[in-house]
Amino acid sequence: MKTYKIGIIGYGGFGKFLHHWWGQLENVEVVAIADSGKHSHTDIENIKLYHDWKDLISDAEIDIVSIVTPPSLHAEMACAAMKSGKHVLLEKPAAITKEDTLQILETQKETGMIITVDHMIRYNPIIQSFIQLGQSGTLGRLRHVVVNNYAQDAALPSDHWFWKEDVSGGIFIEHGVHFFDIVNALSGQKYSKVYGVSDHRNAIQRDRVSAIVLYNEGMIASYYHAFSGPGFFEQTTISLAYDLARVEIEGWMPLKGTITAMVNEDIKEQLTDIPGWTINQTQELDRIGDNSRPEGWGSDPSIIAPKELTYCGGIAYDVNEMISGTFQLPETKGEVYGKCVQSILIDVIKKIENRDHKLAITFEDAVEAVMIAVLSSDKE
Ligand SMILES: NC(=O)c1ccc[n+]([C@@H]2O[C@H](COP(=O)([O-])OP(=O)(O)OC[C@H]3O[C@@H](n4cnc5c(N)ncnc54)[C@H](O)[C@@H]3O)[C@@H](O)[C@H]2O)c1
Repeated sequence: MKTYKIGIIGYGGFGKFLHHWWGQLENVEVVAIADSGKHSHTDIENIKLYHDWKDLISDAEIDIVSIVTPPSLHAEMACAAMKSGKHVLLEKPAAITKEDTLQILETQKETGMIITVDHMIRYNPIIQSFIQLGQSGTLGRLRHVVVNNYAQDAALPSDHWFWKEDVSGGIFIEHGVHFFDIVNALSGQKYSKVYGVSDHRNAIQRDRVSAIVLYNEGMIASYYHAFSGPGFFEQTTISLAYDLARVEIEGWMPLKGTITAMVNEDIKEQLTDIPGWTINQTQELDRIGDNSRPEGWGSDPSIIAPKELTYCGGIAYDVNEMISGTFQLPETKGEVYGKCVQSILIDVIKKIENRDHKLAITFEDAVEAVMIAVLSSDKE
C-alpha cells in the first residue's frame, strides 16, 4: 500500500486539528508544514518546516497539499500547488470571490490534478443518511429548509482575520458555505434567486447575517448566522420540511435530531438506515383527527377530502401511519469531526488511485456554495 505524503500550508488551529486526525491514518504521512507565522515549530519531529509556502509546493516528496490558511490566500496557493503537480485538499471557502473560485476550477481543468474543498459535514453519517433519503425521494419532496446558527465569538477578538472581509469574505463566505453546501447536497437542487441582509455591530464586525434562497425545483431555504452570543447559547439547527416529514437536525457538527413522518411499511424500513434510529411513537393515520381547523369551523360539503391517499402540494402519497422518532450518533463531536476530515482525505486518495471514483464533494459543488455566499453577502 502506498503511503501518501502530505504537506500542510497554514499550521494554525485547524491545520493542527487535521494533522492530529490524519496522523492516525495508515496510508498517510504528514511530512511538511509551511507557516509564515512567528510561532516556532521546532518541537515537531520528522517534519520539514518551511517558512515560505512556495518551498513546500516545490517539495518533490509531497503528493497532496492541504491548504489551511485564511481564505483570501486560497486561490493563489491552490492554483500554484496544482501547477506544481500537487493534488490539493483546500479548506473552505474555496475562495472569497466568484472570479478566484472559477480561476481554481480552470486551473484544475488545465492541470488535471485532483482538488476538493473541505465541506466535510457532507461525510457526517446523519447528513449522509438524509442525502440518501433525498435522492430516493423516500420522504417526498423537500420544500423548505431553515438553518439557524447561533455561534459564540469569544475566540474571535475584533482584530481577528475572521472580521476582515477582504481576508475572510465575511460570515456567509467564511462560514455560511458549509450550510449552503449541505442544503445543496440534501436537496439536489441549485439556487435560482438569493436575497441577503446583515447587520454590523460596529465599523468592523458584521456579526449577524441572513439570507433567503429560492432553488430551481421550488425549495425555499432561509439561513441565519450570528457570531454574537455567549458559548452557553451556542446552537445550530437544520429544519427540513419534506412533504411527508418534519426533521430537525441538531449541532453545528450534526450529532442528533428528531423526525415526525407519515409512512408506510417501505418508508419505515428505509428510515432504519438513519444512525441511532429509534421510534418513540406510532399511530395509524385513520385514527388521528386532522386538527388543523379549530372546532366549530364550517366545512364546505362540496369539498370531499380523498381518503385513500394523502395529498401534499398536489402530489398523492400512499401512507398509513404517523411516527415520531429520534436519531443520534454514538461518538463525541470531536470524534465525528475527526472522522469526517479523515474521510475527505481518504476520498481524495481514492480519486488519485482511480479517476472514475466520484468524489463526495466536487470542486463544482464548492463553486456553487461560494456563488450563493457571494450573492447573500451583497452589501448594498
Ligand atoms: N472545514 C472546517 O471545518 C474548518 C474549520 C476551521 C477552519 N477552517 C478553515 O481553515 C482555514 C484556516 O483557519 P484557522 O482557524 O486554522 O485559522 P488560523 O488563523 O488559526 O490559522 C491560519 C494559519 O495560516 C498561517 N498563514 C497565514 N498566512 C500564511 C502564508 N502566507 N503562508 C503560510 N502560512 C500562512 C498563519 O500563520 C496561521 O498559523 C480557513 O480557511 C478556515 O475557514 C475550516
